[in-house]
Amino acid sequence: MKAIIGGTGIDKDGRFSESLERIVTKYGESFCAVNGGIVYLPRHRPDHSVPPHMINYRANVQALLDLGVDTVISIYAVGSITRRLSPGRFGLVRDFIDLAFSRENTFFDGSTREFRHTPFVEPFDRKLGALFARNAIESGERLAMDSVYITTNGPRLETPAEIMAYRSMGADVVGMTLGTEAALLKEAGIRNAAVAYSINWAAGLDAEGISFLEDESVSRLVGRIMGIAVRTLAQI
Ligand code: HPA
Repeated sequence: MKAIIGGTGIDKDGRFSESLERIVTKYGESFCAVNGGIVYLPRHRPDHSVPPHMINYRANVQALLDLGVDTVISIYAVGSITRRLSPGRFGLVRDFIDLAFSRENTFFDGSTREFRHTPFVEPFDRKLGALFARNAIESGERLAMDSVYITTNGPRLETPAEIMAYRSMGADVVGMTLGTEAALLKEAGIRNAAVAYSINWAAGLDAEGISFLEDESVSRLVGRIMGIAVRTLAQI
């Protein structure tokens, strides 16, 4: 089974809001819809009611495991730090830095004696990413490759000094969810390709202050990404 995990801006895509089922896992509940052989999981719940620092990431990943999912395309709204992925564009994430704290970010929580230091030399599945890239390019998209995503805890946005620091650390984009989720997906043995789309310049990089793409532009962008993600998952 294959899945798409969607975040901010994805709630307007009917697949993430209609015919959702509540799934109760050993870590708590999650909501998914199964449609045409693909599981759709809205990370923030169907009504976008859960902020990034309060998401039950373990329940979401466990729900996918319980449904027999072994392959995921995960989609993230981000702010742009460098021009590698500027607002209005999307692309593949190659690596991440995780600064989130106080989250349940591992399945190895001491409840059993089992324990593993999961390697993260290659955080994302290269073949799945390459297939997504091929489909995007065939659709005429200018895909941004190789972004580094930095995960902040939120829910507040960053200061300009923080964004300057993150740029010097090597981050191209900033968001509040990927690090936690990608860690759990890998611990769970689920292969994952991460796609980020930018909805703003990060703090201090826009002369106007901070401003976000309009909802309609976000919906169109998400619609394009979803089409490519569904096509990609149908090919494996
Ligand atoms: N910062 C953190 N998370 C985000 C941003 C941002 O600027 N834009 C979208 N998600």
